[in-house]
Amino acid sequence: MSEKKSQAATAKPKSFGWIAEYVDEHSLLTASRKVRDSGYTKTDAYTPFPVHGIDEALGIKPTILPFIVLGAGFTGLFTALVLQYWTNAYDYKYIISGKPFASWPANIPVAFELTILFSAFTTFLGMWALNGLPKLSNPLFNSERFDRVTNDRFFLHVDSRDKYFNRESVKDLLAGTKPESLEEVIEDSSPTTLPSVIWLGLGFLFCASLVPVAVVLNMRAGNDENPRWHVFFDMDFQPKKKAQQTTTIFADARIARPQVPGTVARGSLVNEDPFYLGYDPTKQASLNATSNVRLVSAADDKAEKPADASPDTPSDKTGSVDAAKPTEPANVVEPAKDIPAANAAPASPVPAPSATPAAAAAPVAAGGPNLPWISEFPLEVDASLIALGKTKFEIYCSVCHGYAGDGDGLVHRRAEQLQQGYWLPPTSVHDPRIQEQPIGNIFYTISNGKGKMAGYGTVLSPKERWAIVSYVRALQRSRNAQIDDVPVELRAKIEEAKKAE
Ligand code: HEC
Repeated sequence: MSEKKSQAATAKPKSFGWIAEYVDEHSLLTASRKVRDSGYTKTDAYTPFPVHGIDEALGIKPTILPFIVLGAGFTGLFTALVLQYWTNAYDYKYIISGKPFASWPANIPVAFELTILFSAFTTFLGMWALNGLPKLSNPLFNSERFDRVTNDRFFLHVDSRDKYFNRESVKDLLAGTKPESLEEVIEDSSPTTLPSVIWLGLGFLFCASLVPVAVVLNMRAGNDENPRWHVFFDMDFQPKKKAQQTTTIFADARIARPQVPGTVARGSLVNEDPFYLGYDPTKQASLNATSNVRLVSAADDKAEKPADASPDTPSDKTGSVDAAKPTEPANVVEPAKDIPAANAAPASPVPAPSATPAAAAAPVAAGGPNLPWISEFPLEVDASLIALGKTKFEIYCSVCHGYAGDGDGLVHRRAEQLQQGYWLPPTSVHDPRIQEQPIGNIFYTISNGKGKMAGYGTVLSPKERWAIVSYVRALQRSRNAQIDDVPVELRAKIEEAKKAE
């Protein structure tokens, strides 16, 4: 390298061509045309602002970049289509949304994106390449006068690499254009290699970039038993206990504490409010005191087994399931009457009870529960509630019960079509028995299900369930309207229609 350096220093400075300086763009344009007409092509103009017509005056051909970009765009389009065809229709055939494997419309987004992506990158990189960028130095910067090019001067450069370049004739030609100044530019003789400081820095960055790779490789390939480096501790190692761990703080060693007797945990009033139940639990308690005692004792039995203690796990089979076990003395006496449940009454399989703990604890008789149902809506019924009920009914219930509640929904019709012997038709909500049912009972059915019908307590909020009840009532009313239901001013119309019949 040092040899090269000294060579460059001693060698005769090489010409980089001539630059002519002008004070306005008109003289630059005239000079450019003259130079162009003399046949020089390796020329360039440097101006403080864009000069219109300079490309034409210098004979610069329009850039071929648009064609390169067009080609890149098509490449992107083609890549996207082939990729999607290959993956979807050839390599891994998989039906998605019932589309054919080779579905061109589905390929549009990716095809569009790759077209744009390829074009954008090609535009950017192509512009750099065609302009010979990045260029770390330019011999023109050696000229002091050239500094004014960004301010108020116009320069025309004829490159010594032009195939017609001849030092004297170019000088004469340019001199003939009456420039402000004319100067021969000398090729930059400074060393072309990067300074060693920069090499050092780059080397350091490269080594640093290997560190994460090395760490990952060590983790993957090594079998160190130590835990990984914990860079940010945050609150990862704080003194705490998790649900199933033990402790020395309490005598029973359990860290998960049982509920304090006689208190109600926040949000647990669901056990006591008809709004969540469909029946009045206080009345229920006084009506069936013995059953209640049993319920409490069943719950207490459970409380002793912490694993079962959580009342709102959906899989929890209610206190009465435990009650049905012959080993539990409290329930051997008459298991089917007071606290029977799913297991105790196989004739009417009650679906796995809902998430509502109270519903879970409610006694269920063989023909359906008989509870002190409420018959007044525990919330205000207005048009918006009924509208909500209609929406929810049509989403959740109409598939079986039909849009009008007749029990002829699509699922039912399909089951009939398949002639499934074990299909139990959905009850019509217009069945007189359902018409007479108190609203609390219907709410309970929606919450906990009945027979083949699953409960919706986990899916629909209590308000939504009450809304459905109101809509069911509206549906029923629609078949049994009395003349009193019609606004007074419209009654005459109906009478007229009746007479016309
Ligand atoms: C998967 C089908 C299906 C869906 C969905 C369904 N039901 Fe039912 N429903 C049934 C069947 C089947 C019965 C009869 C159950 C029985 O008597 O054992 C029934 C019974 C009923 C009854 C009568 C209960 C009784 O006391 O005899 C009511 C009321 C009812 N459904 C309302 C609804 C409402 C409201 C919804 C929407 C939240 C709904 N159902 C969603 C299938 C369904």
